[in-house]
Amino acid sequence: MSQTLVADAASTPGSIGLFDSGLGGLTVLRELKLSFPWESFTYLGDTARTPYGAKGAETVIRYSKECARFLSGCEIKLLVVACNTASSLALSHLAEECSFPVIGTVDPAVRTALGVSRNEKIGVIGTNATVKSGAYETALKRINPQVMVVSKPCPLFVPVVEEGMFDGTSAEKGIVKSLVEFYLSPLKESGVDTLVLGCTHYPLLLSAIAEYMGPEVNIVECSKAIAEDVRKLLPVSSSSGRNPQSRFFVTDEAARFSQLANIFLGSSQVQAVKVQMVD
Ligand code: DGL
Repeated sequence: MSQTLVADAASTPGSIGLFDSGLGGLTVLRELKLSFPWESFTYLGDTARTPYGAKGAETVIRYSKECARFLSGCEIKLLVVACNTASSLALSHLAEECSFPVIGTVDPAVRTALGVSRNEKIGVIGTNATVKSGAYETALKRINPQVMVVSKPCPLFVPVVEEGMFDGTSAEKGIVKSLVEFYLSPLKESGVDTLVLGCTHYPLLLSAIAEYMGPEVNIVECSKAIAEDVRKLLPVSSSSGRNPQSRFFVTDEAARFSQLANIFLGSSQVQAVKVQMVD
């Protein structure tokens, strides 16, 4: 039996839709809100089913389609798949299904990485599913076949962020530092001059990652390049209106998500609404 997500709150027609498995996509939302302050946004965090990165391709594709259908029901005009796992595995499926443009994370991050790398040695970190998909390696080599790609899954970064350890006490910072060293030491030793944060949760750990990799390594994330892609797709006249608003939906407990989202966004604007799976 097919299942659909339904909102128990009104939609925001003409908004830009984003989804992620949880908090990570807020790193993209933050950039888009800065770039397009006149636009409205509808954000879905599929918190009941996070992490996507530990799931198989079929499951991620199914979840992604359900998220896209939910946002479609909110009458969005454009979908940003603010999740590298969903972008790596499901983007073509979503593009086929959706009646609005769909933008993913991989191509924007790849463009940025190739633009800044000098030695053509690029590191990519992401979830198990993203790294296993080979999406980054394929996209990087499609543009520059000479590039050497060193990929490394960092599966514990997502739960650490979902626990709110991105803004933590010194004890929490110690845990993050050890994890960063544990996962990134092979990348540091490999001589990459550019490291792609191939998961939208990872910019929340940016200071620990950048400090460990050192100033000579470019740290790349997708948000700014996504904003460039959104700009190309949005006609100037398409702004959502004079009273832009952001709506937040989650599939699990709303209070915790709202609290952490407000810390990250430095606001009190997030009052997420829990949406239900129904038959
Ligand atoms: N933030 C997501 C990504 O970019 C999802 C992480 C997860 O749920 O495992 O891959």
